[in-house]
Formats: sequence, C-alpha cells, structure tokens
Amino acid sequence: MNQVLELDPYVGETPAVGLRIEEISVRVGKHMVLEGVSMDLPGGKISALVGPSGSGKSSLLRVLNRLWDGIPRARVEGAVWYQGVNLYGRGVDVAAVRSRIGMVFQRPTPFPKSIVQNISLPLAVHGYPRSEIADRVQASLKTVGLWDEVANRLGTSALALSGGQQQRLCIARALAIQPDILLMDEPASALDPKSRGRIDDLILSLRDAVTVLLVTHHLEEAERVSDRLGVLMDGRLQAFGPTQELFRSAPEKVAQYLRHGSGN
Ligand SMILES: Nc1ncnc2c1ncn2[C@@H]1O[C@H](COP(=O)(O)OP(=O)(O)OP(=O)(O)O)[C@@H](O)[C@H]1O
Ligand SMILES: [Mg+2]
Repeated sequence: MNQVLELDPYVGETPAVGLRIEEISVRVGKHMVLEGVSMDLPGGKISALVGPSGSGKSSLLRVLNRLWDGIPRARVEGAVWYQGVNLYGRGVDVAAVRSRIGMVFQRPTPFPKSIVQNISLPLAVHGYPRSEIADRVQASLKTVGLWDEVANRLGTSALALSGGQQQRLCIARALAIQPDILLMDEPASALDPKSRGRIDDLILSLRDAVTVLLVTHHLEEAERVSDRLGVLMDGRLQAFGPTQELFRSAPEKVAQYLRHGSGN
C-alpha cells in the first residue's frame, strides 16, 4: 500500500492507535544491526524494550520514526504499519511520520530558547492556530507536572532548568503536537532517582492516551510501568509479550537476562 500519510493535527484527539512492526531488518554496510524483528505495539499501552548494550534497542526506535533516512550505507527492510499505511511505503511524508510518532532521547534536548518557545514554536510549525497555542502550552506543561514549577518564568531560557525539568519539558514538547505514539530512549537514565521516579509516573499517566515504546536498562522500571515487554539480543527479538507473564516464565536465555540483567 503506497498511501500518502497526510497531516491532520487533530488526529491525536481520537483514541490512541498502535503500530505493527513487521520483519524489520537494518543493515549498515555489512553489519546486521537488526534481523527480522516483528512486534505489535497495542494502542494506548506502554511497551518496554530491554536488552544488553548494543543489542539494537535505539536502532529499532530509529526505525519507527525514520531516523535511519539519509544515514550512509544504512538499509532498512520490512514494514512498519501505522493506520493501514506502511511507513516505508512510497510517498510517505517523513515530517508527517515524525509529527505522529514522537521521540524523546536519553539526554534532554531542549532548544536554546525560552521555556514557552520550546513548545509554542513546534505548535506553530505544525499549523496550530495562534489562538490555541497558549492553552496547549499550558496543558502540556501540566501533563508533565512542570506548570507549577515554571509558570512564573516561562520567558526564561529552557537551558537554565534542571536536567529532570529539561527532560519533562522535552516530553511536554513531544506531547504538545498530540502524537499517537511516543518513543522514549532511556528517558530517565541520565537523571537522579527522584527525577527518574517522576518520569516513570508521567509515563504511567500517558497510558490509554498515547502508545508508548520505552527503552530502558532498568528491568524494575520495565516491570513497573510496562504492559508489554520485548527483549532484544544481538539484533533479534528473543521474546515479546505481556510483561508480568514474561517475568514469570520465558525461554531460558531471556529468563536469565530478566533475573540478572546485563550488568550495565
Ligand atoms: N549509525 C550507525 N552506523 C553503524 N552502526 C551503528 C549505527 N548505529 C548503531 N550501530 C550499531 O548497531 C548496533 C546496535 O546499536 P544500538 O545503539 O541500537 O544498541 P542499544 O541496544 O541501543 O545499546 P545501548 O543500550 O548501549 O544504548 C551496535 O552494534 C552499533 O554499533
Ligand atoms: Mg541505545
């Protein structure tokens, strides 16, 4: 199917939709980064992806919002289905993909602008009417629990916020444009334990509204927040299923990893 994915800023107000990952392989030159990965991310659920360092977790997230595009010698095979459209089909608008499928990275990446501009600028770029922008800025800052902390200094630089606040601002920025899917690559691992806890609570609060895929090294975090759990090793998905079930019983290699972690 080669439909063009058109941008409709209000689609996020419908119930969350999921994503079907079908036989995804990624090669960079001769190096096989991912091999035959298939998984269904159910709409409105939180799925977590764990696995040893170098197993391909970030690489898989990059597949889902086309961040491999333009990387020399990188080749993505397989399909990612979103609302009946293969994101790797012909004619798909990458900017539209990224407006529906947001990404939050390990290190907070606020723009070197004011707190309010970090959210209002993307809203303007995505065509939200000026009359709505202030309300949406406020709503998304409230969603991430930042409003009370920054309401009296919205015009000051986002770079002056603490690391945890910057990360919550980045999540607010990603949520403001109402994505259906939010990809998070170890969003809390660079933060102190208290800020980590806040990010976990925030992720839990997104359940039902947004489909989340969370990469984490912390198995306890995966167990606490996720409905589904995927385990990647050496570029292959070793297991994927309801989190509690996998922690109770999984193939031996996976069970061993879930008991002991990867040591990093
Ligand atoms: N741009 C790239 N070019 C070449 N190889 C890459 C590129 N990006 C990732 N890789 C390779 O893909 C493999 C998986 O890397 P990836 O970053 O996805 O692992 P990860 O599971 O996220 O690890 P970590 O837990 O350390 O973040 C590694 O062997 C890495 O060297
Ligand atoms: Mg990674």
